[in-house]
Amino acid sequence: MALVWIGLSLLLYSLSTECLRYPTDKDSARKLFRGWQNEHRKHYRTREQEVYGFEVFHENLKKINELNDLHRSRTEYRINKFADMSVSEFKSKILMPPRKPPQRGTKTCLGSKVTDPLPQSFDWTDKGVVTSVKDQGTVGTCWAFSTIGNIEGQWAIMGKPLTNLSVELLVDCDGTQDVKDGEADCGVFGGWPFLAFQFIQKLGGLETWEDYGYCSGSGKCFPCAPPGYNKTLCGPPESYCLKNQSCAAKLNRTKFITGLEVVSWEQVDKNETIMADQLMKLGPLSIALNAALLQFYHSGIFDPPICDPQDLDHAVLLVGFGQEKSVFGTRDFWKVKNSWGHKWGEEGYFRIKRGVGKCGMNTQVVNAFLKQ
Ligand SMILES: *[C@@H]1O[C@H](CO)[C@@H](O)[C@H](O)[C@H]1NC(C)=O
Ligand SMILES: *[C@@H]1O[C@H](CO)[C@@H](O)[C@H](O)[C@H]1NC(C)=O
Ligand SMILES: *[C@@H]1O[C@H](CO)[C@@H](O)[C@H](O)[C@H]1NC(C)=O
Ligand SMILES: *[C@@H]1O[C@H](CO)[C@@H](O)[C@H](O)[C@H]1NC(C)=O
Ligand SMILES: *[C@@H]1O[C@H](CO)[C@@H](O)[C@H](O)[C@H]1NC(C)=O
Repeated sequence: MALVWIGLSLLLYSLSTECLRYPTDKDSARKLFRGWQNEHRKHYRTREQEVYGFEVFHENLKKINELNDLHRSRTEYRINKFADMSVSEFKSKILMPPRKPPQRGTKTCLGSKVTDPLPQSFDWTDKGVVTSVKDQGTVGTCWAFSTIGNIEGQWAIMGKPLTNLSVELLVDCDGTQDVKDGEADCGVFGGWPFLAFQFIQKLGGLETWEDYGYCSGSGKCFPCAPPGYNKTLCGPPESYCLKNQSCAAKLNRTKFITGLEVVSWEQVDKNETIMADQLMKLGPLSIALNAALLQFYHSGIFDPPICDPQDLDHAVLLVGFGQEKSVFGTRDFWKVKNSWGHKWGEEGYFRIKRGVGKCGMNTQVVNAFLKQ
């Protein structure tokens, strides 16, 4: 009898908490908008911009309600700092242009011996090898954050002190291109961790975040495009830039961290059992996914029904996996570190469904190896 009661109250509890709905009449929406403006210190330069901002915000409230109806009990969506951005603005400002996962001959000799069985859960964030959540701002530099997150992990796992490494250095200096694949690193317009690994390998080192701080994405700096920037592959470079804020002026090799060198990199198999095994053996891994519906993610396990795995537009850091047990059954998830600030999602992280290739998150799993 007691068990039935517990079961029933759990069910009622989950039913009552899963239905977040925003009121969408104009007056309520305006009230929410004012509150949101205060919370995010959002000031518009002109009246027109504010009117437009409110219109988009109002539309987004309806959209978030729809998302919450659709994902009942799995994922919760809420208004956040992106609430006055339309889907297309979010895609063009925050995400990268969607691209197919590059097809390479997989050098994956990694996946042969799998730890069997896998533990129920595993998390690098409680092992002192993952730095604080960062914020990329309103530019497409996720690829540099994902790359650096992987290398920070590798460095710490070698027994070195956990260190915030420079993301801006990659954004400013890495114009690596792979003409054969038609891929390139394009500063604030996107890039790929596997190319960035090759860049750091060639460069021969990295500076710390403290020495070469992040300034893109908040209007604090206007560096020129990185050396080697390919306009055909990347699109037009920034129209305005300051040479004295660019790589040539800022890069300082005498500040390279002693001993930190990338010697190679490898891609991990798409099979998510092998991925979990490699995550435990290697460290936090760079991954890419289709993140279009991640804009208003708040909590839970991200599992949108429509999410093209061939359209990768965001790079992040895979840090763990686990199982969520509820009255609805058991759900396997991955834990992922994002670069949208610590207030976004689950303290800067999100969880995504594991085992089904969700949003293509298993198609670009890469890891750099450091000189031991
Ligand atoms: C990394 O930088 C953050 C600030 O963004 C700071 O709070 C944290 O202590 C730094 N971590 C390390 C390991 O230095
Ligand atoms: C830039 O990319 C295009 C397209 O792949 C390629 O044809 C061209 O040679 C590249 N330009 C340079 C300067 O490498
Ligand atoms: C870079 O150049 C701009 C414009 O010429 C100038 O205002 C700024 O002070 C310079 N910054 C540095 C760090 O030299
Ligand atoms: C590079 O860093 C070294 C060591 O901190 C410093 O002494 C030197 O002045 C720096 N060089 C430039 C050009 O900033
Ligand atoms: C994934 O790899 C595991 C472990 O090697 C294997 O048992 C399983 O059959 C693989 N799954 C698929 C879909 O290939």
